[in-house]
Amino acid sequence: MKIAVIYDSLSGNTKTLAEKIKNEINKEDLVYFGEPSKEDIKADLYFIGSWTNKGDCTDRIKAILEGQHQKKIAYFATAGFGDGAYFDRLFERVKTHIPQDNELLAYFYCQGKMPLTVKERYLDLIKANPEDQNLKVSLANFDKALTHPDQKDLEELGKWTREVLSQLKK
Ligand SMILES: Cc1cc2nc3c(=O)[nH]c(=O)nc-3n(C[C@H](O)[C@H](O)[C@H](O)COP(=O)(O)O)c2cc1C
Repeated sequence: MKIAVIYDSLSGNTKTLAEKIKNEINKEDLVYFGEPSKEDIKADLYFIGSWTNKGDCTDRIKAILEGQHQKKIAYFATAGFGDGAYFDRLFERVKTHIPQDNELLAYFYCQGKMPLTVKERYLDLIKANPEDQNLKVSLANFDKALTHPDQKDLEELGKWTREVLSQLKK
């Protein structure tokens, strides 16, 4: 079985997920691990991962997804805002970049900490709009994201990865 793990990560959260996935894969099965490259990667299964950029995957991952045909794909991602319904909406958008002749096996999201500049922007905005509830929610969410991806996220990702791998053996 040949497996590739391709990811895009700016500040390391998605890379942490990619490394966890790598650890679940037998060494001899892993044919590629790294950021998007021009290399023609031949594998039976592609784990493709991205951080969330303005409600979508990154442009580099979009290009990789759009270029896949007749492949088995499992998608993983981190996002600053975290709940199941939001993750589902994010994935609906990402899915539009995956040509329909591929087999999409599963997707996984968890929260990932954001840069401090985001918090500073919220604090500036709150100064100007002290009653804005949405800003308060965003600020609380920023703090909630600070510990992610955490141990529990990685355990869930490990379980998800094993499930994906077991689908391939069927
Ligand atoms: C420019 C920019 C745009 C972002 N847009 C979103 C977004 O639309 N939704 C979201 O939930 N998180 C958003 N985030 C948060 C990141 O997706 C999140 O922190 C992610 O875990 C970063 O992953 P990385 O460490 O692998 O780069 C954004 C972050 C940046 C820097």
